[in-house]
Amino acid sequence: MRELLKKLSETHGPSGREQQIARLITGEIRDYVDEVFTDTLGNLYAVKRGNGTKVMVAAHMDEIGIIVTFIEEKGFLRFSNIGGVSPYILLGQKVVFANGTVATVGMEKLEDIKKLAFDKMYLDIGAGSREEAAANVRIGDIATYYRELTFSGSRAIGKAMDNRAGCAVLVNAIRELEKTDNEIYAVFTIQEEVGLRGSRTSSYRLNPELGLAVDVTPAGDTPEPPVAMDVYLGRGPAIKVKDASVICHPRLKELLLELTEQEGIPCQLEVLQAGGTDAGAIHLSREGIPSAVISIPCRYVHTPGEMVDITDMQNAVRLLKSFLSHPLEMQKIFPCFLT
Ligand code: ZN
Ligand code: CO
Repeated sequence: MRELLKKLSETHGPSGREQQIARLITGEIRDYVDEVFTDTLGNLYAVKRGNGTKVMVAAHMDEIGIIVTFIEEKGFLRFSNIGGVSPYILLGQKVVFANGTVATVGMEKLEDIKKLAFDKMYLDIGAGSREEAAANVRIGDIATYYRELTFSGSRAIGKAMDNRAGCAVLVNAIRELEKTDNEIYAVFTIQEEVGLRGSRTSSYRLNPELGLAVDVTPAGDTPEPPVAMDVYLGRGPAIKVKDASVICHPRLKELLLELTEQEGIPCQLEVLQAGGTDAGAIHLSREGIPSAVISIPCRYVHTPGEMVDITDMQNAVRLLKSFLSHPLEMQKIFPCFLT
């Protein structure tokens, strides 16, 4: 798990530029599934065939980033955000482009730090002129945090735990899963961070009977946490009740809870007030697809120092395997919404 997570974390893959990360995941999963394919937008599908219930499990593979908007005469680059990037967290960081070009994030003189915004900031790749800068970086190139993944006991610290932690859980669950009746589509989705875009098109394409997303959720166990959450690192995966994008199907949520009890898997319940995940798009696909979410608790989401607990990820793998190998008989799970 640690080795895989490190590779996934350190690989470049901002929204809309998921090719490198898709290649890595393909290599990790290909030998364990019946088929791997991509679609025109870049979603990556890994299929385990079966005659039973058709299940889509989504883990978004994109990460947040910044995009070059303008190259100045002296070679400094102006930029905008791709997904939820905070100027305060970005300031002073190193960022890296797909071609390996590294930049420092600087800022103009500011009387009031509260006025810090992207238009007061720039990237410095060490170029002395616009021409020199343009030889390495073009308008529209996207950079991500430049950060190694490190471990401290059971904790992993690095960039893009949102959602490479989810990708690692899904890859490992698929690798370890014995043959079942269920027809399982593991989908590594694109562009979640800019509005659940890949999950919208991939769920339409697959038209599954059940949907599940694996993603991180903010933990509320730090001093004066920015979000009040009853979710803790190291207490197991969180089963989502709701966020701003989805109210998880109650029957599916209860089934996940039952499975944790049966298998003795530690778990927590999650209510996230803001933010969303791929299940937000999946459950609204076509006539509606009952969907749930397994969340990995994560501190400092959308910073280069995102922290997850490896044991939570291992327990998420156990829960996911248990769910995917369960006889997911639709008539039994959903006899009638009124009963
Ligand atoms: Zn995410
Ligand atoms: Co995110």
